[in-house]
Amino acid sequence: MLLQHRKRLMALAGLVLAGYLIVHMFSNLLYFNAERFNSFYQLYNLPFIRWPLLLLVLAALALHVWGAIAIRRHNAKVRPVAYHKRDYLQPPKALVTLSIILIGLFILLHIVQTLQFDPQDAYGETLALFASAGMLLIYLAGLLLIGMHLQHSLNNVLQTLGVTSKTCYPLLVTLIALLMLGFAAVPVAAYLGQG
Ligand code: HEM
Repeated sequence: MLLQHRKRLMALAGLVLAGYLIVHMFSNLLYFNAERFNSFYQLYNLPFIRWPLLLLVLAALALHVWGAIAIRRHNAKVRPVAYHKRDYLQPPKALVTLSIILIGLFILLHIVQTLQFDPQDAYGETLALFASAGMLLIYLAGLLLIGMHLQHSLNNVLQTLGVTSKTCYPLLVTLIALLMLGFAAVPVAAYLGQG
C-alpha cells in the first residue's frame, strides 16, 4: 500500500520534471533571437517565479529518486532472483545506476552554472558557457543520458499501462529524439557562434 503511494508520487514527480523539460526546451529555442531570449530570462528571473520553480524542480527530483530507491529495495526483497531477461539490450543494473548518478551530477552542474548567470544577459552567458569544446561535450553527453533514461522509463510506463509498445514505441522514440535535438541545438549553435 505504502509502495503504491510512493510509486504514484514518483510518477507525479516524473511528470512534473518532463513538463519542465518540455517548456525549458521550447523557451531555450528563443536563443535564436537574442533579444527575446534575454527578455524571457529577465522575466523568469523575477524572484517570485524563479525560486518557487527551482524549489519545485529540486523537490520533484528528490521525490523521483526516493521513489525509485524504495521500489528497487522492495523488488530486491520480494524477488531475490531476477527475472529471466528476454531483452538482451537491457543494460546491467550497475550501468543504469551509474547513468542516473551522472544525470544527477549533470543537472547539479547546470543549476550551479546558471545560478551564476547575469539575469540581464542570459544570451551572453549562454554563449560564454559553450566557448569550450569540453563544456559542449559534457552537455551533449548529459542530454544523451537523459534521452536514454526517458526512453527506457517511459517505455516501461507504457507497458505497465498496457499500451502496446509496438505501435507507440516509434512515436515515443521520435518525440524524445526531437526533445533532445531541441536542447542540443543551443549549445551547438553557441559553440559554433563564438568570435
Ligand atoms: C542543454 C541545453 C540547455 C541550455 C542551453 C539551458 C539553459 C538554461 C538557462 C539559460 C537557464 C536560466 C539561467 C538564468 O537564470 O538566467 C537555465 C535554467 C535551468 N535549467 Fe537549463 N538549459 C539546458 C538544459 C537543461 C536540462 C537538460 C535540464 C534538466 C533538468 C535543465 C534544468 C534547468 C533548471 C532546473 C534551471 C533553473 C536553475 C536556476 O534557477 O538557476 N536545463 N537553463
